[in-house]
Amino acid sequence: MSQAAFDDRVAAYAQSASHREGPTLDLTRELAQARPGDLVLDVSTGTGFTAHALAAQSARVVAADIATNMLRHTRTTAPTALQVVQTDTLALAFGEQTFDVVTCRHAFHHYLDGNLAIAEMARVVRVGGRVVIADTISPDDVEVAEAMHAIELARDPSHVCNRYAAQVLELMTEAGLVIERAVHTHTEQDFDSWCSRTGVSNELRGQLWGGFNGSEKVRAAFNVRETADSRRFDWPVLIAAGVRRA
Ligand SMILES: C[S@@+](CC[C@H](N)C(=O)[O-])C[C@H]1O[C@@H](n2cnc3c(N)ncnc32)[C@H](O)[C@@H]1O
Repeated sequence: MSQAAFDDRVAAYAQSASHREGPTLDLTRELAQARPGDLVLDVSTGTGFTAHALAAQSARVVAADIATNMLRHTRTTAPTALQVVQTDTLALAFGEQTFDVVTCRHAFHHYLDGNLAIAEMARVVRVGGRVVIADTISPDDVEVAEAMHAIELARDPSHVCNRYAAQVLELMTEAGLVIERAVHTHTEQDFDSWCSRTGVSNELRGQLWGGFNGSEKVRAAFNVRETADSRRFDWPVLIAAGVRRA
């Protein structure tokens, strides 16, 4: 999907509660272990929630993304310590071993080539430095995994795929990272806000909610629930930290 498509989503991401706060942000910050003065790269920073959270810990943060408008927003809302750079995660515009920490939150499922993305993150982190990847993952059950993929792709054409947790850890290991911690959590979503973020029509909304309720197994896997005034579900998330060994 083109950079322009992400450029159109700035306002939606900037208002997204699940990007602004919650366990995936807290755990990304915790696993990153950034210390005051560390140089941190946050790839696919979007509107910069993770970058801002790390900069608030006195780390020096470079917020990188492929989309011009995302970066314009991030730059204008940035604390002074934050630098903004336009670059593709699959071809990072930084030298070998530039950073103490690299973070990547809620973006990995957009990458066409997950191996290359992790290899690039591992390349630019220093030996002994840490790469933290936090994103939605595919459940192990095939029926549930297929339902998740179909729903996510219909809602968001920029979705490529959710990897299995074991796949993410394997890719990190292959890239020369020693897995330090891997934490399973979830991101709680308000279904209608989640649909609005990508401009889903009412008709498609009905189909997607039908997908969530397609079977008891799918409903249970995503903790799908409905009250008089809200429809909610949870996506499974893995947050993994790996340390570059050589
Ligand atoms: C969901 S947003 C990221 C959220 C953000 N990391 C946070 O913590 O709030 C996904 C971002 O990935 C970016 N993106 C997608 N593919 C990319 C690529 N190949 N290189 C760099 N950024 C990319 C999009 O422009 C978008 O800003």
